[in-house]
Amino acid sequence: MVVLIAGCHSQPALTPQEAEGQHLYEVRCAHCHRDNDLALKKVPPDLNGLFRNPKLPSGAPATDAEVTRVILQGKGMMPAFTNRFTQEQMAALLAYLHGGLR
Ligand code: HEC
Repeated sequence: MVVLIAGCHSQPALTPQEAEGQHLYEVRCAHCHRDNDLALKKVPPDLNGLFRNPKLPSGAPATDAEVTRVILQGKGMMPAFTNRFTQEQMAALLAYLHGGLR
């Protein structure tokens, strides 16, 4: 049996911007999107590879503009992050999401 280990091909290190995005993701998003620590009935979708699909889990287009809108305005049980991120932090978060979660 052949076992493929995900991520075995070497990946380039995170850029400083992606690393900042990773930090923000870990602090602000992962507890829901990875751990669902609030046990929400609507399980927060896995954000890994978010931009590899043309559509977001809801069916909305997977664009920077739409993801930024969801983050700023919230969606369903997801809270709005209005005024929580500077433009620079938002760009870092998007850069990290674009690279897949690694
Ligand atoms: C309190 C839990 C919670 C937190 C914190 C949270 N989310 Fe969510 N998120 C959700 C839930 C629940 C959904 C599903 C919303 C729906 O489709 O009704 C969701 C959906 C999404 C979607 C998909 C939207 C779509 O149209 O399919 C994206 C992208 C997303 N979140 C990004 C983030 C990012 C980035 C962060 C951190 C800045 C974050 N979320 C923080 C709960 C959370």
